[in-house]
Amino acid sequence: MQSFSFYSPTKVIFGKGTELGTADEIKKFGGSRVLIVYGGGSVVKSGLLARIEQSLTGAGLAFTSLGGVKPNPRLFLAREGVQKGIEFGVNFVLAVGGGSVIDTAKGIAHGIANPGTDIWKFWLKEVEVTKSLPVGVVLTISAAGSETSDSAVLTDDETWTKRGLSTEFNRPKFVVMNPELTYTLPKYQIACGVVDIMMHTLDRYFTPDEGNAITDEIAEALLRVVIKNGRVAVENPTDYDAASELMWCGSLSHNGLTGLGAKKDFATHQLSHELSGRFDAAHGASLAALWGSWARYTYQEKPERFARFAKSVWGIATNDCKLAAQEAIDKTVAYFSSLGMPTSFSELGIGVQSEEVLQDLTDRCVFHGARTIGQFKVLNRSDVYEIYKLAN
Ligand code: NZQ
Ligand code: ZN
Repeated sequence: MQSFSFYSPTKVIFGKGTELGTADEIKKFGGSRVLIVYGGGSVVKSGLLARIEQSLTGAGLAFTSLGGVKPNPRLFLAREGVQKGIEFGVNFVLAVGGGSVIDTAKGIAHGIANPGTDIWKFWLKEVEVTKSLPVGVVLTISAAGSETSDSAVLTDDETWTKRGLSTEFNRPKFVVMNPELTYTLPKYQIACGVVDIMMHTLDRYFTPDEGNAITDEIAEALLRVVIKNGRVAVENPTDYDAASELMWCGSLSHNGLTGLGAKKDFATHQLSHELSGRFDAAHGASLAALWGSWARYTYQEKPERFARFAKSVWGIATNDCKLAAQEAIDKTVAYFSSLGMPTSFSELGIGVQSEEVLQDLTDRCVFHGARTIGQFKVLNRSDVYEIYKLAN
């Protein structure tokens, strides 16, 4: 086990009706003037936003709102939120939604706490985040895990560059998780979420490091639970037990727990960000479209690791490591398909891409040669190109 530091400070308030306590939580964390951030309208339609606003009014909290966050959230709206927040004298940012809303809220919080610094500089690593405002979350979709993660992902709408920022200042103060709030999700979004939750653990599980018994067991248990309940939730979005398991797994999968003591891979995430950046593809769907190609390209690096995954997660008894690995990859890809997720570029709806596009995706992914990606197998420019080509 490698040395690690684990810090997961977000307070989790889980269960039916918990959103009614949102105002109290904001007060506990010092909030009095709040910016509520939300997405394209699902929370307006469901009445959730009105309930939250009512609870804030009842608790004597002043607030203003910013709606319109799109999936693959745009930098320009976060900048607008910073401006709005500064003008209103905001001291707390409340995200009501999913990963896109939460990441926008994180960006806004950094911007309000650092007036005069353009927030994209944090994402470009030109300026370090050293202070931010507190952020709270009312979660409406089990997927990105941003509600407890140290990460935030934004897209610069001028260059269509999608970038993640990791900092402890990205950890929300609290998250309210009522699984019933996910009942209105379209099946496609539930499936995207299932893939993303699995990928946050798979991108940690496939590591060159061994000797992490408890971390591996936690990861495998989480994957089994998500696979089982993902099927149920896509079939029946209002199954409370399945929705509950997915919601809790979504947070545990990305708060760091399932990869402690080992190097993280995250190559599939890096590959997928270029697809979302260029084609505005849904995050979970672009992961599903790429993972099989990544796995088939890299498994020979350490087939034993895939064989362990085969046995523990899929119950595959084959003794031959390579055969077990291939079977597990096929099963995982077939599972994504069974949820209605794409497993190639054409299924993702972006068609078969030209050589020029593949080269461009590759260049962007490796920052024009300035970086490699992945740890399970370190991928250079030509590896990245081959994986995109396989998925094409
Ligand atoms: O915008 P509205 O109308 O709310 O609709 C949203 C959106 O269209 C809809 N939705 C959410 N909750 C709903 C609902 N529709 C009906 N009922 C509900 N209860 O779902 C759509 C997708 O929302 P989004 O917030 O984009 O989903 P998700 O949570 O999957 O977030 C994806 C974003 O998070 C980033 C992704 O790259 C992507 O930009 N990620 C953030 C991470 C982090 N900060 O730690 C890690 C992840 O790996 C990921 O990269
Ligand atoms: Zn993800």
